[in-house]
Amino acid sequence: MLGNFTYCNPTKLYFGKSAIDGLNEELPKYGKNVLLVYGGGSVKKNGIYDKVINILKACGKTVYEDAGVMPNPTVEKLYEGVERAKKAKADLILAVGGGSVCDYAKAVSVSVNCKEDPWDKYYLRMEDVECDVIPVGCVLTMVGTGSEMNGGSVITNYAQKLKIGHVFGENVFPKFSVLDPEYTYTLPKYQMIAGFYDIMSHILEQYFSGEDDNTSDYIMEGLLRSLIHSSLIAVKNPTDYEARSNIMWTATWALNTLVAKGKTTDWEVHMLGQAVGAHTNATHGMTLAAVSMAYYRHILPYGLKKFARYAVNVWGVCPDGKTDVQTAEAGLEAMEKWMKELGLVMNISELGVTADMIDGVAKSTLIMDGGYKVLSNDDVKQILRDSL
Ligand code: NZQ
Ligand code: ZN
Repeated sequence: MLGNFTYCNPTKLYFGKSAIDGLNEELPKYGKNVLLVYGGGSVKKNGIYDKVINILKACGKTVYEDAGVMPNPTVEKLYEGVERAKKAKADLILAVGGGSVCDYAKAVSVSVNCKEDPWDKYYLRMEDVECDVIPVGCVLTMVGTGSEMNGGSVITNYAQKLKIGHVFGENVFPKFSVLDPEYTYTLPKYQMIAGFYDIMSHILEQYFSGEDDNTSDYIMEGLLRSLIHSSLIAVKNPTDYEARSNIMWTATWALNTLVAKGKTTDWEVHMLGQAVGAHTNATHGMTLAAVSMAYYRHILPYGLKKFARYAVNVWGVCPDGKTDVQTAEAGLEAMEKWMKELGLVMNISELGVTADMIDGVAKSTLIMDGGYKVLSNDDVKQILRDSL
């Protein structure tokens, strides 16, 4: 049965070729001062920066820049961004980049007027925002996180060995996002496929929870089939517009809060992946890929029916003559084959985790209670060892 919920997603999307023109409609809604946030320089190389700057100037904006947002943005960078936004008296924060840049923009937006240390308040104590928030807009250049249409913001504190995501409320969602699939063509293959797996994991971690018959699970099965189909095309031909646009749209739906409505969710793979990230600074999607097979095989007996359904409805496994266990295992085998075909990282050793780091990574792993098994500390260590 679907549980009760309220649903509102306030982000306006501009999707497709020339989506960038949407900035001409959006920018006039905000004051003069724009803090333009971007990463390590890809947007300068591929020309997206120039396109954005030209529109900002044509709209009469005063532009202040905050460059160098790193993948897995750090708490130190957040403190720096807060000072920049204050100096700029920013009326709008415009994020041009991937999930890291969008997440960072949201973190700055809720921290500028915050009276306390934002890391302690929002990430360690997970408290709500009580201060005024600076509006955020996004021009997305990397597909995967869903940050373009949600309130998520993940910040890493390497000193504390913690990578934590806060899911902020509607007032922190981007006011608008520009999604042009062609902007993602310049992504290196490693980042592209990491993004594909991030999408997969977002859907699976909402799917593998609960046994109820609900519409959300059917929507997710459709999204998964579309992603699997298009990813195999895109990996061979990264400039296939049909595939890349379908994947971009799937990524947004995978984590714009819709499919989680009325059902429970898991998110333990993200907790394991984020712990690996806090110890290695590895690429987000790869940390998820590297722990997934061990995790799903570990919890399969506790969610057997759903794993068998997944095998049949998503991977086309024929259940005839098979036990549920055999069907479910065949589904995971098909998934593993697909992951290898894409070229994903299949173990945490490749990401820099060694056997002597397992205790530390386990300590950084938050335990969720929505999955088919609430993991014990020993479970976590076992899954990490199985992922080496
Ligand atoms: O920094 P630049 O030079 O721009 O290069 C980036 C970066 O090195 C590059 N890149 C991005 N677009 C490009 C490009 N290179 C060439 N052409 C382009 N068009 O790609 C690299 C990775 O970018 P990043 O933004 O770090 O990737 P992603 O979008 O995967 O974001 C990862 C962050 O998002 C968080 C992750 O934990 C991680 O910190 N997440 C946010 C979520 C949310 N808001 O809901 C949920 C996710 O589960 C995730 O946890
Ligand atoms: Zn993710």
